[in-house]
Amino acid sequence: MILIIDFGSQFNQLIARRVRECKVYCQIVPPDIGIDKIKSINPEGIILSGGPSSIYDKNSPRIDKDIFKLKIPVLGICYGMQFMIDALGGSVKKSKKREYGFAELTIKKKEEIFTGIDRKTQSWMSHGDSIVKLPRGFVITAFTENTRVAATVNKKKKFYGLQFHPEVEHTVKGKKMIKNFLDVCGCAGTWTMKSFAKESIAEIKETVKDKRVILGLSGGVDSSVTALLIHKAIGKKLTCIFVDNGLLRKNERENLKKTLRKHLKINILFVNASNRFLKALSGVSDPEKKRKIIGKIFIDVFNSEAKKIKDAEFLAQGTLYPDIIESQSAFGGPSAVIKSHHNVGGLPKNMKLKLVEPLKYLFKDEVRLLGKTIGLAEDLVWRQPFPGPGLAIRVIGEVTRRRLSILKETDAILIEEIKAAGYYRKLWQSFAVLLPIKSVGIMGDKRTYENIVAIRAVTSKDAMTADWARLPHKLLGKISNRIINEVPGVNRVVYDISSKPPSTIEWE
Ligand code: XMP
Repeated sequence: MILIIDFGSQFNQLIARRVRECKVYCQIVPPDIGIDKIKSINPEGIILSGGPSSIYDKNSPRIDKDIFKLKIPVLGICYGMQFMIDALGGSVKKSKKREYGFAELTIKKKEEIFTGIDRKTQSWMSHGDSIVKLPRGFVITAFTENTRVAATVNKKKKFYGLQFHPEVEHTVKGKKMIKNFLDVCGCAGTWTMKSFAKESIAEIKETVKDKRVILGLSGGVDSSVTALLIHKAIGKKLTCIFVDNGLLRKNERENLKKTLRKHLKINILFVNASNRFLKALSGVSDPEKKRKIIGKIFIDVFNSEAKKIKDAEFLAQGTLYPDIIESQSAFGGPSAVIKSHHNVGGLPKNMKLKLVEPLKYLFKDEVRLLGKTIGLAEDLVWRQPFPGPGLAIRVIGEVTRRRLSILKETDAILIEEIKAAGYYRKLWQSFAVLLPIKSVGIMGDKRTYENIVAIRAVTSKDAMTADWARLPHKLLGKISNRIINEVPGVNRVVYDISSKPPSTIEWE
């Protein structure tokens, strides 16, 4: 186990991913974690992340310096290295030249961390401060044109510092450097989904004992994997509630019912609350208002169903690691709200149930792997993510039954063609958006004035960033043709060619 101390870098998730790609378990924790907690976790090594602060800022994040007395290897990255050097008696100053982007790294000493790496290699920098004096016991191991101390080591203590970011792909041998550090820590790389599943099932049993657990099942991969995992731990003591909000895709409830009943032999209560949702959404076009209304009704409906289940003591959620990381910050403040769609902190305060979140340290691709490992049906493992507010945020503007129906038909065609062309699993998401404007067309010699739909297809690893998918023109042509021919009310199809950032995946 490796602990990653979060000093606020935007790349923290990448550090965790790289460590896990080496089959070593790790967790990201805030700097105020406390030395006793670290001792009780007893990690094999510590990675101090980068961060936006300068070590001399009054409020810069700090961790107890006693971590350097634990006799375990430490790797400091960027701000993390500067923190270490400062804490151990060296000094850091504002650089004359800031260094952002690519820099050629020259390795002076092939200490452990650079094992198997050429003397000159490409690194990726992002810093305004530099080390001017090293503490006793440290030597320089690499430099760049503008940075004298691009890497340093105290070999005896196994403390390593890298001024550049080994976790980003632009540092070509970065992953190898992280692997080398894990080797120094003595991590064998035996962490697999099989071992995770085994430990997780045992932990759920231990936490829940003979009490009942309820779970909001959406049919997405996260809640399905959560359900199966908990079912394996406590069997019939798990009850799932599926709320149909009327904003699902065409035939979704029926299809899901079939799949879930066939593959998950679990208690599932299906609740149809469509009318309530659609009524409340009538006349509302602001996306955040839509989300709030949907979120509130969902909780109401879910709560009243949950109350009917006697002796329920736990509520299970398919919260993933990125949700947790994004909601905790090194500075204790909430990061800017762009869209209010986090699981974390979204529950009503008066909910008396205790939380079970077995996926909270996993990334999406790990959840899929876990699903596969514990025998979840392929259909469920590979479902593309679908937002909680469903089609309400894909009907831009007011949500009416007519507009929902146009979107459902359009979306069904799109997904059918994407699947037929073998693209469904390659894409993070592919969906249609109904726009609030009309366009002129001509059909059978007659003028039409009808709706426009946009097609959105993106590739992504975790939805934090995304790129628009370069789908073949032939496929796009076929999709457009079918939609315009088969969906009454649509006379134009456009393809969204924006990436995230600066756009987002959903339009609302
Ligand atoms: P954005 O549009 O923020 O989407 O780039 C990132 C990912 O989150 C999904 N998404 C949501 N999921 N409730 C959800 O449960 C929401 O309100 C919501 N908004 C966006 C989106 O589909 C994508 O996978």
